[in-house]
Amino acid sequence: MSTLIISTSLNPSSRSAILAQAALEQAKRRDFSCSLLDLRAVKLPLCDGGACFGEPAVGFVRETIERAAAIVIASPVYNYSIGASLKNLLELTGAAWAGKPVGFLCAAGGKGSYMAVMPFANGLMLDFRCPIVPRFVFADGSAFDDHSVCDESVIQRIADLVEEVERWKCLGMGVDAG
Ligand SMILES: Cc1cc2nc3c(=O)[nH]c(=O)nc-3n(C[C@H](O)[C@H](O)[C@H](O)COP(=O)(O)O)c2cc1C
Repeated sequence: MSTLIISTSLNPSSRSAILAQAALEQAKRRDFSCSLLDLRAVKLPLCDGGACFGEPAVGFVRETIERAAAIVIASPVYNYSIGASLKNLLELTGAAWAGKPVGFLCAAGGKGSYMAVMPFANGLMLDFRCPIVPRFVFADGSAFDDHSVCDESVIQRIADLVEEVERWKCLGMGVDAG
């Protein structure tokens, strides 16, 4: 019963990837079963609704998501929404998410896009019956130094999210996706 953190930014110097790494460290510190999938390391095709589903990289991420009991997404905020790589991931692997609790870590340029994940979260809830953990981490540039999170309140929110996801997982908060 492992939590899968998925880092979805394709930027080599991604800040949401730093959030994902910090969440992994918080989980390991608590002996929670947790692993990280970084989409920069997997060359996924764009979803074409057909042949893409047979590609090996798509099979790999689909199986990785299927094995997880809960998912924590790390996403950039682009244009007041999640990044296209995350939307593409869901298009490629949708049914693999079914019923799993999902939490969010977001990196943004400013403070105004804090509800950016909501349309995506709605899709997860209504299309795939994913319970959404209502403890989002939203961090703008001021929360980071070069390679780590330096804002203590953001570090605390990451710890709170990790603990809440674990609690939901242990309570069996995933729903019957039928
Ligand atoms: C195409 C693009 C669109 C962006 N749109 C927003 C936005 O709507 N709101 C915001 O706060 N930041 C926006 N930003 C800033 C990013 O959220 C910020 O650079 C963040 O660190 C991206 O996450 P990443 O570093 O993990 O890739 C945008 C950046 C790019 C490149």
